[in-house]
Amino acid sequence: TKLKIAVLVGSLRKESWNKKIANALIKLAPDMLEMETISIGDLPLYNEDLEADPPKEWVNLRTHLATFNGLLFVTPEYNRSIPGVLKNAIDVGSRPYGKNSWDGKPAGIVSVTPGHLGAFGSNHHLRQSLVFVNVPTMPQPEAYIGGVEALFDKDGNLSNASTKGFLEKFMAAFAKWVEINRKK
Ligand code: FNR
Repeated sequence: TKLKIAVLVGSLRKESWNKKIANALIKLAPDMLEMETISIGDLPLYNEDLEADPPKEWVNLRTHLATFNGLLFVTPEYNRSIPGVLKNAIDVGSRPYGKNSWDGKPAGIVSVTPGHLGAFGSNHHLRQSLVFVNVPTMPQPEAYIGGVEALFDKDGNLSNASTKGFLEKFMAAFAKWVEINRKK
């Protein structure tokens, strides 16, 4: 049976480069992975008071996460960190106390920017939070996608052969990472 992977994208923008890279990653994924993008844009901002009667969007995320074997994060960098929308999703999934929906699910991170530093700050801030929620995050290969605007053709297809080859190798390594580290 296939390994189910939740794809979490840190941008809500319609023409998001991160969404385009996420779609390319889904196409390049090995057959053993079943990829599904999950939406995080509708989650009310985390407020511990709401745990008494949690918003349905929170409950949906928590129950949905339970069905996945692994996580693939594709994220921009906002002011050298992860966008608030992604941090909010991590916070929502990590609670109520003692019921952490992320627990033990192996993850991969791809950070994406039109800039030239590959969204390194975002990539590593995300790793910091994932350590705390007990998500084993693949160390290598790292994926910092800079200058993203130059990698796609006019029709929105990933056209840069070297990036395509790299992302294909990344997805093969990620599949192995999930297989080795998945909860039994
Ligand atoms: C940015 N951007 C940005 N880029 C970067 O490489 N490092 C950064 O720290 C920031 N900071 C930042 C803050 C805020 C609030 C915004 C809106 C943008 C630029 C960012 O990489 C660019 O807008 C990307 O296109 C965002 O990703 P999507 O939406 O195309 O996926």
